[in-house]
Amino acid sequence: MSSQIDHLLDETRKFPPSEEFAAQSVSSPELYERAAADREAFWAEQSRELLSWNTPFTRVLDWSTPPFAKWFDDGELNVAYNCLDRHVEAGNGDRVALHWEGEPGDSRSITYAELTEEVKRVANVLEDLGIGHGDRVAIYLPMIPEAVASMLAVARVGAIHSVVFGGFSADSLRARIDDAGAKLVITADGGYRKGRVSALKPAVDQALSDRGDGEQQTVEHVLVVKRGENEVDWQEGRDVWWHDAVPAASADHEAQAFPSENPLFILYTSGTTGKPKGILHTSGGYLTQAAYSHKYVFDLHPETDVYWCTADIGWITGHSYVTYGPLANGATQVIYEGTPDSPHPGRWWEIIEKYRVSIFYTAPTAIRSFMKIGRSVPQKFDLSSLRLLGSVGEPINPEAWIWYRDVIGAGKTPIVDTWWQTETGAIMVSALPGVTATKPGSAQVPLPGISIDVVDESGTEVGNGNGGLLVITEPWPSMLRGIWGDPERYKETYWEKFENQGYYFAGDGARLDDDGDLWLLGRVDDVMNVSGHRLSTAEIESSLVAHEATAEAAVVGASDETTGQAVVAFVIIKESYLSAHDPAGLAQQLRLWVGEQIGAIARPRDVYIVGELPKTRSGKIMRRLLRDVAEGREVGDTTTLADTAVMSIISAQVK
Ligand code: WTA
Repeated sequence: MSSQIDHLLDETRKFPPSEEFAAQSVSSPELYERAAADREAFWAEQSRELLSWNTPFTRVLDWSTPPFAKWFDDGELNVAYNCLDRHVEAGNGDRVALHWEGEPGDSRSITYAELTEEVKRVANVLEDLGIGHGDRVAIYLPMIPEAVASMLAVARVGAIHSVVFGGFSADSLRARIDDAGAKLVITADGGYRKGRVSALKPAVDQALSDRGDGEQQTVEHVLVVKRGENEVDWQEGRDVWWHDAVPAASADHEAQAFPSENPLFILYTSGTTGKPKGILHTSGGYLTQAAYSHKYVFDLHPETDVYWCTADIGWITGHSYVTYGPLANGATQVIYEGTPDSPHPGRWWEIIEKYRVSIFYTAPTAIRSFMKIGRSVPQKFDLSSLRLLGSVGEPINPEAWIWYRDVIGAGKTPIVDTWWQTETGAIMVSALPGVTATKPGSAQVPLPGISIDVVDESGTEVGNGNGGLLVITEPWPSMLRGIWGDPERYKETYWEKFENQGYYFAGDGARLDDDGDLWLLGRVDDVMNVSGHRLSTAEIESSLVAHEATAEAAVVGASDETTGQAVVAFVIIKESYLSAHDPAGLAQQLRLWVGEQIGAIARPRDVYIVGELPKTRSGKIMRRLLRDVAEGREVGDTTTLADTAVMSIISAQVK
C-alpha cells in the first residue's frame, strides 16, 4: 500500500495530568461527549458562550456548496468589539491586555480600556483615509502594540487585513499588496532586531515604486509608526505619521456589526511551488474557534494567567493566538519585539521571570536551539510561574519535548503539542491539559468538535497502528473560505485528492498508534521511500536528536541507485561535543545510532555535520535545498530563506 508510512520508532512514555492540575482545569472529558452527541449544536453553543453577537445566528453551518462553507451566516457581530469593548463594559477595563517588551528593554503595559481607546482612534483614522467595509489593508510592522491595534482597527471598520511578516523583502510585499489590491499600507520606520533597527519603510517605498508596466497602483496612503530613529523618505500626500493622526483622532467610534461571513483577513502562505496563496478567513466562525481553542487548549484563567505566545503577527499563530483568541477571551499577554538572544541568550527566560508568565507557547525550532546552547542559560532564571507549555509548527521530537518539560517546565508542566495550519485557522489536534495523558512527540487527539482521520491514497481509513495521510472529514468553523481570487486553486489544492469522500487534504503524513493517538510525520513531500519502505523524515530526525551529541537534525531522501532513495542527514552538533570529538567519528556514531534505534533500513547513508540548517523565516527547514546538496545538484532558489548565505556554507562543508 503506497500511502502506508512505516513506523519504526517507538516512544512509550506517558504523562497523565496531576490531580492538582486536573482539579482546576477549564476543560473536562465531558466536552468530548457533548461534541460527539451533536457537533453543530456544540459549535453553536461555544459560539454563543464565547462571543457577543449583535444579531444572534439561527443557522449554524451551510455546507450546501462544498467546499465553500458558511458558519453562523445569518448572525452579525463586530470582531474588534468582541476583543475589546465588551471586556471594558464588563468591568475589566483595568486588566492589562498587553505587556509589551521592546528588544532594547523599553516596555509598556496597556490595559483593555487603553487598547480599546487606541483602536477606536485608529479606526477613525482609517475611515478618514477612505478605508471601509471590504477594503484591503496591508500591515507590515514589527511586534509592537500598534501591530495588534492595527489589525483590530481594520477589523472594526469591516475591512480586510493582510499582514506581511516584517522579514519579507520589498518584492514579496509588492506581490502581496498587488494580489490583494490593498488601498492602505500600515508600516513603521523600522523595528529592533538583534540590537539594531531593521528598516521597514524603504521596503514599502520600493514595493510601491513605479515599475513601468503601466499597472495601476492600488495603494493610496501609507500610515507610518515611528519606532526607531531612522530617517525616512517621505511622500507628501501619500504618507501619514501615526503619531500625528492617531492622537488627534476622536476616541469615540461605534463598532458596526457585520455579517458572520464578512472577510476578516487574508494571510499569504507559500505552497510547495508557485506563487503564495492568499488564505482567506472570515469573522464569526474563525473567532469562535480561535477563542474556543485558546481557552481550552491553554486552560486559560483570564483573571490570573499571564500568557505568552512568541509568534510574530506575520504568521497565522500570531493572528489566532496573539491577536484574536487571547483578546476575545480577555487574557493578559506578553508580546516581545525582538530576537530570543538579544542582548543575551537568556532574554526569553528573563521575560518569563519579569512578567511571571504562566502559559508559554512556542515552536520546536526555538526549543532545539535552546537545547543547543544548554540548560545552564534558562536555569539562571526563575521560571516557577510557568504552569503550561505549548508547541506548534512542526513535529516536536520526543527528546525536545522532554527537555522542554524538564528544563523549562520544572518536570511538571503539561505540554500541549498543537497541530494546525494557516488554512485551518485554529488548533485542530492537541491534548487537553488536565484531561489527556500526554505522550512526547504525539499531537494526540482532535479537539472536541473536530473530525480527523488518517487514510490511504484511496481515502480508506488505515486504522490504529498504521500510517497514511491526514484528512479533515467534516467542515470546521475556522476553516479557510478559499484562496483570495482563485477558487479553482482552492478546490485543487485541498479538496480534489479526496473529492469522492469530501475530505480536506492537509498535505501531512500521520500515523495512529494503538491507542488511536495521532503522530505527525511531516509533510507528505518530505516522506522518503527507501527500498520500498516509506520513512518519515521527522522520525529519523527524532532519533538523531535523541543522541546526546545532537542539537538539531534535518533528513532528506536523496536518489540512490540501489535503494531508490537513501537517507541523508544534516546534523548540528552541540558545542560541548564538537570540541571534544572528531567530526568523522561522530558522523559514524550517529549512523550506527539511528540503525540501532530505528533499524538498518533507516540508517543514513551519509551524515553531514554542519553549522547551520537552511530555514524559512518562520523556522521551517527547507529540505528541498538540502536534497539538492545531497544529490550533488546546483542548489535551487534560496530567496525564501531567512539567511541566504547558509546554503553556500553547507555546500562548501559537504564538498
Ligand atoms: C506543520 C502553523 C507537526 C504541518 C500553525 C502543517 C505541525 C504545517 C504541527 C502548517 C505540529 C504545524 N506537529 N506538524 N504540532 N503544527 N505543523 O501554515 O506540516 O505555518 O501542515 O501553520 O506545519 O504550517 P503553518
